[in-house]
Formats: sequence, structure tokens, C-alpha cells
Amino acid sequence: MSSKIFSNGHLENRGGVLYIDGVSSLEIAEKFDTPLYVLAERRIRENYRRLYDALKKHYDKVRIYYSAKANTSLSVLKILESEGAYLDTVSPGEVFLALRASFTSDRILFTGTSVRDDELKFLVDSGVTINIDSLSQLRRLLSFHLPEMISVRVNPEIGAGHHEHCITAGRDSKFGIWEDDVIKAYKYAREAGVKKFGIQMHIGSGILTVEPFLLAAEKMLEIARHVHEEVGVDFDFIDFGGGLGVPYRPEEESLDLDLYAEKVLGLYLRRIGEYDLGEPWFFIEPGRYIVCDAGVLLTRVNTLKITPFKKFVGVDAGFNTLIRPAMYGSYHPIIVANRFDSAEEEVYDVAGPICESGDLLARDRRLPRISEGDLLAVLNVGAYGFSMSSQYNSRPRCGEVLVKDGEYALIRRKEDFESLLIGQELPSWLK
Ligand code: LLP
Repeated sequence: MSSKIFSNGHLENRGGVLYIDGVSSLEIAEKFDTPLYVLAERRIRENYRRLYDALKKHYDKVRIYYSAKANTSLSVLKILESEGAYLDTVSPGEVFLALRASFTSDRILFTGTSVRDDELKFLVDSGVTINIDSLSQLRRLLSFHLPEMISVRVNPEIGAGHHEHCITAGRDSKFGIWEDDVIKAYKYAREAGVKKFGIQMHIGSGILTVEPFLLAAEKMLEIARHVHEEVGVDFDFIDFGGGLGVPYRPEEESLDLDLYAEKVLGLYLRRIGEYDLGEPWFFIEPGRYIVCDAGVLLTRVNTLKITPFKKFVGVDAGFNTLIRPAMYGSYHPIIVANRFDSAEEEVYDVAGPICESGDLLARDRRLPRISEGDLLAVLNVGAYGFSMSSQYNSRPRCGEVLVKDGEYALIRRKEDFESLLIGQELPSWLK
């Protein structure tokens, strides 16, 4: 297990202790308490650049819209802003954070679903580009504002993803607009006076092979052709969404990035030529790919419980801190950060403090023999880790640290009990 994970460079075994880009996991766990999310800045930058370089080799007009929902910490947004990334957002709150992180509105795309009128007004006031998810949304937007640019999210009928919750196209999906209505949407926007156009899809998340991307891209490009021919629309950009997967299990292979770039951009360049679509910008919206393997969750063992059937390792991070195992049955690698030289000789369930049986970070996991007080490191949690955490069971959310070349800084204080009271009021009759 370790060889693949430690090929990432920022994770290092120094005398049996996990170092994250030169910072001792034991030192920061001690200093900032556990559970604690740790992010490696260098890895975020490497992931972004690797992806950008792979795409840019094939076409000049390429932009990466980092999908903020994977990790909206201000520091992460700042890092990507400084890399020159653009931003994919899904809520007014994400737009607010993006602007705070000094993204200008021309670098922000909004792709929401079930969007309210007041939210549309906020987006218009913010000046971001809106990617339309329904005819209703388009009608409501155009009723009070004429945007310069409109993009439409299409449902290309082909979805894929690591779990059914993460498949975002196809018959059962609530996202995007079906082809006939796509034509209607562009006609309607054009007649209303919209001048510039984009088209977008996002088929799902956690995809490790190139094939689904290609099948869906073919379909979206056909739809773009129909829109161009029937409505006379020229596209400023064509956005292929996110979904680029990252291996979590030891037996999983990485997505072949060069193959992805070669095949998807190859198809793109052929079709925009054949379909006479000009030279639109090529966008993608990766979240996980950029931040996933830059994140580690440190959690302390407080309990060992041996039953006739199971060995439980009780830790201080539950599904309030990392929900992916409980929500999707996701696998995250776990190592013992204070002595991971030791052989993996026991099989444990790693259990959190939440009062639900589903609160397991790992089931039947082979680990070194664990003692109370050991520090575990849960890997690949930079995406959809903190951003999906909650206060369930009235547990304040944990802190977050950024590491960089032997230095570290707290980028999010852990919450305290007072945080549990924020916004709460007692009615007069209970005071
Ligand atoms: N664009 C749109 C419109 C999206 O809805 C998403 C993710 C992305 C881009 C980025 O997808 P990515 O490149 O990260 O796969 N919580 C789940 C993942 C849900 C993703 C939802 N949409 C998980 O932990 O696996």
C-alpha cells in the first residue's frame, strides 16, 4: 500500500513518523489537537499544473475551472487563484468565498440547480457567468436581467461516477437540460438579446477511465452542432465538466491523464472543425483531481474494544468530520502516523464517536497493532472532506492546517461549544 501513496512526494516516512511536506504529523496533532485536516500546498499546485500542462499541449485556449465545492477553504482558493485557475461554483456562498479569495467575477462560473430568484439576483449583482440548469431558471433570469453571456448545462444522456449519488447525467439525473429543450433555451436566450454563449455538461464524479468522458463529449458536441445549425449560435466556450478520478484503493490505477487529454481534446478539435464551430475555449471543472491527495486527516485513537467478533479502534473523527465512508461506502487509505514502519498484522474496524452504527471510517482494515494514543492518518481527504463535515451530535467542526516546505499555519480554527450556539435564539416563552 505505502509505495504508491508515498510516490506522491509530499508524504514521507521519517523514522516511522509521517511527515507532510516536511512537517511532522505528530507535532501538529499535538499543537492543534485532533481531528485535524492537513493540506499540502505544494501538492495542490502540482496537481493543477500537471493537468494544465497536459491539456495545454493540445490546444492553446484551455481553462481549468477548479470546482470549489471539493474544498472551499479560503487558502485553497487563494492558492488556485495565484495559479491562474478559474472557478466553478454552485451556490451564492461559494461565489461569496471566491470573491473574498480575490477571484474577479469574470473568472467565476456558476452552475447551480434548483436556483431561487433571490439567488439569481445575487449572481447577477456579482457579475459571474451563469450556467443554466433548467428552462424555468432561464425564464426567471431573463424576466429581470439580460446577461451578456449565457451558458446551458446539457444532459448528454451518459453519466458515470464512483457511486450512484455521484452520477450527474442520464435518465434519472436531476441535472442539466435534455436536447430538445436545449435548442429551445438557446432560441429563447437569443431572441431575448443574449449575445454570447457557452455550453456545459458534468457527467459525474470519480471517473478513472477515459471512455465515459469521450462518449459524453461526443454527445455534447453533437448537441452543440445542432444548436449552432438550428439557432445560429457561436460558442465562446465548451465546458466538459469535472469528474476526473483519483485512486483511493491500493488496487486502483490512476486516470491516464495524457490519454484523457489526447483523446478528449483530439475529439474536440476534430469535431469543432467538422461542425464549423470556430475556436471556442475548452473548459474543464475538476475538483477532486486538484485537491484530493493533498489532504490528510489526523485522528487520535482513544479506545480499543475487542469483542468476540470484532476489534474496534475508536478514534475522534467520525462521519461528522469525514462523511465519505458512511455516505458512499468510500475507501480511504489509513496509516499509523506515529509508527507506520510496523507490519500490518491485525484487522480492525475504525470507528468514530458518532452514535450511529454506520459511523466507521474503515471496515475490516489490515493495520499495524494499534495502541490507545496512536495517531492515525486518513489519506486522500483533501476533496469533499472538510467541505462535507457537519456538527452532527453537536460536535464542533475540526481545524485545518496548511503545510508548505517544512512550515505550517493554522488556516481554520477548530470550533468550540459557542459555535454550537451561533444563530440560535430562544423564543420569549422559553427564556
Ligand atoms: N462541476 C460540477 C457541475 C459538479 O457538480 C461537480 C461535482 C464538479 C464539477 C467537480 O467534480 P469532481 O471533479 O470533483 O469529480 N461528494 C462526492 C462528490 C460529489 C461531486 C458533485 N459535483 C464525493 O465525495 O465523492
